[in-house]
Amino acid sequence: MIRPLETRDVEVWAAMRARLWPHADAEDLLREAYAFIEDEAASFLDAAFIAEDDTARPVGFLELSVRDFADGCDSAPVPHVEGWYIEPPARGLALGADLMHAAETWSVERGFSELASDTEVENVASQNAHAACGFEETERLVKFRKSL
Ligand SMILES: CC(C)(COP(=O)(O)OP(=O)(O)OC[C@H]1O[C@@H](n2cnc3c(N)ncnc32)[C@H](O)[C@@H]1OP(=O)(O)O)[C@@H](O)C(=O)NCCC(=O)NCCS
Repeated sequence: MIRPLETRDVEVWAAMRARLWPHADAEDLLREAYAFIEDEAASFLDAAFIAEDDTARPVGFLELSVRDFADGCDSAPVPHVEGWYIEPPARGLALGADLMHAAETWSVERGFSELASDTEVENVASQNAHAACGFEETERLVKFRKSL
């Protein structure tokens, strides 16, 4: 089952965010989660959904932001999947696809005609899951940095 994120989810959502982004600062991930719960309008996120297993335990999430533009998309602004995660034991049960469907419905209801997403070049499983959910690959990007 998929439902919008609720206040009671904040700690478990932040913990799942930390498992999706293990290199990020867990405190920052928790702070962002509270920021969305406390003042959605001021948060960089615009929507978040929780996937529950058949005992109503949260086992995944998808979060969205509406970006000014997204590479490879024809429309702007455009909703962008910022995080998509299902706990390992709950994978392969169509919960990820159900979360994506909720994101699509949210987007269509607000008048958007495209949904953008991205993943790391080495995350082939995610690329395959995106393709299975109807996404087409638009481009690949190599990022750089230089200390100044
Ligand atoms: C990507 C992820 C959210 C998918 O969730 P899931 O619940 O396992 O996916 P579903 O069971 O709903 O599968 C949806 C479709 O993707 C396909 N798929 C899912 N995982 C796949 C994999 N590892 N390899 C190939 N196809 C895969 C499924 O076969 C299904 O296609 P179908 O409808 O044609 O059968 C989950 O695997 C995950 O959390 N991965 C780790 C985090 C991650 O990489 N997130 C994405 C980057 S932000």
